[in-house]
Formats: sequence, C-alpha cells, structure tokens
Amino acid sequence: CWPRTSDKNFKTVSVNAWVEESEGEPGLVLGLRGEPYWLLPGKSGGIRNFALRAECTHLGCIAPWNEVQQKFVCPCHGSQYDPDGTVLRGPAPHSLALAHVEVVDKGNARVR
Ligand code: FES
Repeated sequence: CWPRTSDKNFKTVSVNAWVEESEGEPGLVLGLRGEPYWLLPGKSGGIRNFALRAECTHLGCIAPWNEVQQKFVCPCHGSQYDPDGTVLRGPAPHSLALAHVEVVDKGNARVR
C-alpha cells in the first residue's frame, strides 16, 4: 500500500513505482520528520521537484486532491488550493507550504 517507505531515518519513495501507482494524481508521502506531503506528478513524466504540505493552512486537516475539480479541497471547512498549492478559497489564510523533493540514489526521492 502507498506510501512505501524505506530506511529508518529518511522516508524515501521509488520515483518509478510512484509514477506507476499514482496514475497522474498527487500522492501522499512522509517528509523527513514524518510530516505529510503531496508528491506531484511531473508535467512530462516523473515527479515535480517540489512537494506540497498536505495539511490545510486553516486548522491543519489533510486536504486531498479532487480529480474532478482539479484542486485540493479541504473536507473540514472547504478551503481550496490549485494544483500548485495556491489558495483559491478560504478560510485558509495561506497557500500550502512547499518542500524540496530530492532524488537520491537508485531513483529514490525524499522530501526535505
Ligand atoms: Fe481546512 Fe479549515 S482546516 S478549511
């Protein structure tokens, strides 16, 4: 089941496996300190070099991707974010936080 993690200290995912399993949708992964992030499909394959913090900037609910609306929609109070994490509708006060996606050895990626 997803996300797959390996290594005690760093949460890493295989980029190829992620691309196959995510089917073009953002997929939840854990950052270095266990924080939840959305890993994003690249525009021409692979993954984007940044990830979005999955917690809504209002009160911290996980805001899942809505495939039909092509937005992240928070189930708690309805905030919406575009595919880059920019807030479209409040009450969220800010866009989703960004983190760097680093591709390390053997095609594994991690968020830091
Ligand atoms: Fe997301 Fe309130 S926690 S809108």
